[in-house]
Amino acid sequence: MEEIKIFAPASVANVSCGFDVLGFCLEPVGDKMIIRKTDSSGIRITKIEGQDLPLDVKNNVAGVAAEALLKEHPVEFGFEIEIYKNIKAGSGIGSSAASSAGAVFGINKLLNSPFTAHELIHFAMQGEVLASGSAHADNVAPLLLGGITLVRSTDPIDVIQLPVPIELSAVILHPKIELKTMHAREIIKKNVTLEKAIVQWGNLGAFVSSLYNEDYDLMSRSLKDVIVEPMRSLLIPEFESLKKASNDAGALGFGISGSGPSVFALTKGIDSAEKVFRSLEQIISSIGIDFDFYLSKINQQGIKILPN
Ligand code: HSE
Repeated sequence: MEEIKIFAPASVANVSCGFDVLGFCLEPVGDKMIIRKTDSSGIRITKIEGQDLPLDVKNNVAGVAAEALLKEHPVEFGFEIEIYKNIKAGSGIGSSAASSAGAVFGINKLLNSPFTAHELIHFAMQGEVLASGSAHADNVAPLLLGGITLVRSTDPIDVIQLPVPIELSAVILHPKIELKTMHAREIIKKNVTLEKAIVQWGNLGAFVSSLYNEDYDLMSRSLKDVIVEPMRSLLIPEFESLKKASNDAGALGFGISGSGPSVFALTKGIDSAEKVFRSLEQIISSIGIDFDFYLSKINQQGIKILPN
């Protein structure tokens, strides 16, 4: 294979109770990338459409992730990358993760898969370091493994793929204001009280159990974030009203998607997701902020290869 075309989906990280450890991908929105082998060695980014992002490999998350892979697996030829962005940078639905994970996924395929999907997480994470200053894998892991993932450790990488209850659906609302992950991380206090830690790990454990048992009531009780959401929600217009509206409309849980400003709700079934969306739409429209929204099942596959 000389060339590959892929779809790298948007993703929701943290999922309320799992800051930096839980994530899942969406189905309807994502970037496209074309990666091809070249005779000259090294990585070149030859085209970016849809966003104003640097072509310079060292300043582009896809370039940095791709170079990290080639450092571990040197070859005499090289690769050029075209990126067609649909996921806006600073939207909270994994824009940098899509480019980073997409690059390493595509190059690995063109090299006849010397690395497992699990091993690729480390390389993709280098793009997240460039984008946010932090080596988290909660967005890139579900892109590379599919489904809902739990990052037990990033050093060494140890990621668990969790089961996805069949009816689980998501609503994403993206108020069109930009929030940089780096900034949204800076405002988080670095110390957590024992009382809050106990609540958080109780909820995280319960959420994981709810996925194995398809226990939507338990899922609903555990989709809570007492640590990061109280700080970051201040950056999101009408967060508390959106949360109340979502819960009143029957969502299982509601929270910040990644570092925001997008917010997400999980629901049992797509009909319930539509109902939740309509209640969120009323609020966001009334404050005059432009927005995008997506309704999605949980994407079980992650990145996929597109026909050429
Ligand atoms: N876990 C990360 C954060 C995801 O919330 O900062 C954003 O990339």
